[in-house]
Amino acid sequence: MTTHPAHSAPAREVHLAAHFPGVNNTTVWTDPAGGSHIDFDSFERFARTAEAGLFDFLFLAEGLRLREHKGEIFDLDVVGRPETATVLAAVAQVTERLGLAGTFSATFNEPFDLARKLGTLDHLSAGRAAWNVVTTNNAFTGANFRRGGYLDHADRYARAEDFISAARTIWESGGDEAAGAGGDAGPAQPGGRFAHSSRFFDIEGRYPLPRSRQVHPVIFQAGDSPDGRDFAAGSADVIFTRHSELEEGRAFYADISRRLARFGRGEDELKIYPGVTFVLGDTEAEAHERAAHVRRQQVSGPGAIAFLEQLWGRDLTACDPDGPLPEIDPDFDNADITRGRVRHVKDPRPVARAWRERAEAEGLSIRELVIEVSARHSFVGTPGRVAEQMNEYVQQRAADGFILIPHLTPGGLDEFVARVVPELQERGVYRTEYPEGGMLRDNLGLAGYRPEAQWAAARAAARAAEHSIGERSAADEHSTEHSTQSQAAEKETAHV
Ligand SMILES: Cc1cc2nc3c(=O)[nH]c(=O)nc-3n(C[C@H](O)[C@H](O)[C@H](O)COP(=O)(O)O)c2cc1C
Repeated sequence: MTTHPAHSAPAREVHLAAHFPGVNNTTVWTDPAGGSHIDFDSFERFARTAEAGLFDFLFLAEGLRLREHKGEIFDLDVVGRPETATVLAAVAQVTERLGLAGTFSATFNEPFDLARKLGTLDHLSAGRAAWNVVTTNNAFTGANFRRGGYLDHADRYARAEDFISAARTIWESGGDEAAGAGGDAGPAQPGGRFAHSSRFFDIEGRYPLPRSRQVHPVIFQAGDSPDGRDFAAGSADVIFTRHSELEEGRAFYADISRRLARFGRGEDELKIYPGVTFVLGDTEAEAHERAAHVRRQQVSGPGAIAFLEQLWGRDLTACDPDGPLPEIDPDFDNADITRGRVRHVKDPRPVARAWRERAEAEGLSIRELVIEVSARHSFVGTPGRVAEQMNEYVQQRAADGFILIPHLTPGGLDEFVARVVPELQERGVYRTEYPEGGMLRDNLGLAGYRPEAQWAAARAAARAAEHSIGERSAADEHSTEHSTQSQAAEKETAHV
């Protein structure tokens, strides 16, 4: 059965991926089924389930310093974070087709070192590596590297773009032809020369590896500002986004399509994957009951107070989580009460006012209010209903696929793979086997790698056009308007 009549365009395929949670506020730590977030067994079990479900990739976020709340490591987060490339190299050995997407900061790494690491992962996995490029937004992390907050927001993106360009140049230098890139010139050789001279890097040398199968590991981007979106449109293959509701997803998709056109790219060249959560049940009522139960486990009393403190910038431990919201206003100057976390709300005062009004109007306690306004479950329902909704998002171009963030590790994908995947397959919108080719690019439906010279030329042409007609400011006005709307929805999330 397919949801689209035979005379319309063929249905777009739904894609799935899996996020192994790091530091986060989705995981229910108290559940007896919850396992380690460090032991390899957990990664292996999780990855094998994702592969059994024919998922595109496993995704690992990264924090280079554990976040702190009121000067302490926040013990309602996970404590401990293994190194991403090492974990993915191990997962490569127990999987065959699953893509391996790791997050690495362009601000606190160096191109040669990271290109070599990711090139190695692409070799070890026969073409399944991806790099989620993040710009890491604070001086708190920089202290690990004796760099402090050495780049402002715009320069972090300028460096990231330059970094990818350098990395792609390095990857390309590794021998003439990659086995998977269509050449028949024999085995690729290491030792090609590279040189990249730019505002941020002045490097030259020899790359100690041959080209890997994908030549360029797939590039992901996560970051939502106009600069971040332009960076994705000009340099990335995939976006990991937090726009997980239908209308905001459609607006985001349309905004990215406009930006892609400026870089001479089509919308199918950049895949959009929101991070989403889900709860299933045998009936709609049961699913909603389970979802409410999970939300209460995710938001404990102390967790609710800490959540409020993040917005208020104040110590609120004197408040009762089962009582009313504090009368006092947020301390605008103390936004750093939680360090190492991505803040999406710029001015907390209108948000606090709206929360207070809502709590009064609906008779909600602090904990109940936090349950309502912190990240909700994206998909709740029977397996059939969830499949239907996901399909709708994809057909309506609110997403190309979804990065599932389960509330339990490592078993949180099991039920989804057993029950929702067959529903999607029955609707004819989900693969029944992995595609030919075996590379992550094939899973994603992306074409082969495109030489860095072409990327650079497209960026230069876009920038030249932008300066002559001021196109960029029009697109940015639109996205600013959109992000104001998201703020009005009073939603705070933290996937990092
Ligand atoms: C969905 C999403 C996921 C992110 N994941 C990470 C991460 O794993 N590690 C990290 O250091 N930063 C992460 N970031 C932070 C971004 O790299 C960036 O520093 C931050 O969003 C500020 O840029 P922006 O103003 O363009 O959004 C993430 C951001 C978003 C929106």
